[in-house]
Amino acid sequence: TGVWFVGARGNIATTAMVGARAVARGAVSTTGLVTEREPCTRLDLPEMGSLAFGGHDIRDGNVVSSARELAERNRVPDRETLASVEVDLEGVDEHVRPGTALNCGAATDLADGDPLEVGRTVEEVVEWLRDDLRTFRRDRDLDRVVVVNVASTEPTLADGDRYGSRAALEGAIEDDDRELPASVLYAYAALSEGCPFANFTPAVGSAVGGLRELAEEEGLPHMGNDGKTGESLLKTALGPMFAARNLHVRSWEGHNILGNTDGEVLEDDRNKGGKIRSKGDLLESILPDIEHNRVRIDHTPSLNDWKTAWDYVHFEGFLDTGMTMQFTWQGSDSALAAPLVLDLVRLLTHAADRDESGLQPHLASFFKAPVGVDEHDLSRQFDVLHEYVDRHA
Ligand code: NAI
Repeated sequence: TGVWFVGARGNIATTAMVGARAVARGAVSTTGLVTEREPCTRLDLPEMGSLAFGGHDIRDGNVVSSARELAERNRVPDRETLASVEVDLEGVDEHVRPGTALNCGAATDLADGDPLEVGRTVEEVVEWLRDDLRTFRRDRDLDRVVVVNVASTEPTLADGDRYGSRAALEGAIEDDDRELPASVLYAYAALSEGCPFANFTPAVGSAVGGLRELAEEEGLPHMGNDGKTGESLLKTALGPMFAARNLHVRSWEGHNILGNTDGEVLEDDRNKGGKIRSKGDLLESILPDIEHNRVRIDHTPSLNDWKTAWDYVHFEGFLDTGMTMQFTWQGSDSALAAPLVLDLVRLLTHAADRDESGLQPHLASFFKAPVGVDEHDLSRQFDVLHEYVDRHA
């Protein structure tokens, strides 16, 4: 299986490549991978060692130096692990192509040189993206390529209904509609080249109606949006506890500080909007009576890829007694995200091999804003995944 990362030189993509090779070589354990534990181990999934990598990015660079930088700054991966896989990563850059930053807001500033949309129509951009996927598949002799969006967060798309049908979306591409965001173009290129698609970012990606229709028609699985890795994971585990015990949550304040490029791009209010929404909405759906629910995200450069979330939950119990719960979560952002990306690649490959098309509700537990799924309760989402495994194992 081929894995095509949109954002191939970023922290998550780099950590996923290092991790896949390290697991394949037996240099690290499989801790953190959902597909390496029961019940998913009963499924027929692609071997970690069979994954081949490529992708799009708007920055220059190379995977080995990105990985070295991560090891130096964040201590993840550790030097020994990195040393065991460097040789495997050396060829990846041959398959990393320049991407488009159309409507990417602050992320556009990351670009080295001109992104694809400069001097090209939208239709030409799409053709380039598609051609890159075809070339990767041919050069690496791959039966299947899964595309995963791990690029910087885009500003929210104001009126996505314009692209509500396949015909409308294809018309917009032909008419050189320059309001189309990059994430939609990447998803369009993926699905029209027969590639399953996962959107790990809060960008709209394949959630627009036109792409949902395309995925159904082409018989391809896809899912998003926005990986559920840290504070939100905790919220969807703890929120149902308050609800089930009939404890009334009055306020939930969540304050996140992080130091990586993701945090830097999220400093821009336009780019931050989608992230705040997907992090906030899930709690409202679990605790509809919540009086005050706020999420803050701030960039603290010295933290690098480490993220701290401090949450303060003010709730009431019997006799209207006020109580509080606070937690502090300190996570390595990419070590939390990368295994989920690999899980998604394996599970989407499994789905595609069985001709399962459209949105994949059994993958909801991986996302903060699972498209087409209203259930945010983590354990119920896992029940759906386990039922899926029971049907297929
Ligand atoms: P990063 O900033 O390290 O990597 C993003 C990469 O995407 C960079 O190499 C950048 O040059 C590239 N890029 C930006 N715009 C692009 C475009 N239009 N086309 C192609 N490449 C583009 O960020 P990181 O930490 O790897 O996160 C990636 C995404 O995953 C972000 O959107 C983030 O919000 C999302 N995410 C991360 C989580 C985590 O780290 N735990 C959890 C949930 C979502």
